[in-house]
Amino acid sequence: MMKLGILISGRGSNMSALADAVEEGRIPGARVSVVVSDRADAAGLRHAADRRVEALAIERRGRGREEHEREIISALRERGVELVCLAGYMRLLSPCFVEEFRGRVLNIHPSLLPAFPGLDAQRQAIEHGVKFSGCTVHFVDETLDGGPIITQRVVPVHAGDTPDTLAARILVEEHKAYPEAVRLVVGGNYKINGRRVVGK
Ligand code: GRF
Repeated sequence: MMKLGILISGRGSNMSALADAVEEGRIPGARVSVVVSDRADAAGLRHAADRRVEALAIERRGRGREEHEREIISALRERGVELVCLAGYMRLLSPCFVEEFRGRVLNIHPSLLPAFPGLDAQRQAIEHGVKFSGCTVHFVDETLDGGPIITQRVVPVHAGDTPDTLAARILVEEHKAYPEAVRLVVGGNYKINGRRVVGK
């Protein structure tokens, strides 16, 4: 069994989608070992506990980023976590975290990367005037939303869209894309060729 650790900061709907997919047997060979939030008030912690998944708040409390992450890394290591899924974790990981779990950290981002990395991706897409946007699941490296892409799903951008209406349309696809991507990675049927993730 590959043990997953999911990092969140808020609502945790992608975490719930992953936990449900594991529960329903859609990610064979995986189990969710722990959900960690950097905010104790994250609604996602309750959703994790409701699913009988261990839910931990590890807040930053004025510490430097590395010190904070060292505590998260210890919690993940103690539980034997092998794959880390960022799901609305609102902090950029330091190089020490990326190094610790090299090639074993995934993220989901609400745009078709490399377009619109960073915050407020849905607003960026609307303001840019693109006609399609979507979501991307990718490996995390030291760059901002820049690691090798595992999967993407596309949605149309409508004329009257606000960041919220577009975000809601994208979120439906996020909840399908993330379990698919984790299934691929857990199954191990891929290799990374330069920047490209290709099936074996
Ligand atoms: C999602 O839009 C995700 O793509 C982005 O943050 C949001 C998290 O939502 N990284 P949720 O907490 O999973 O509901």
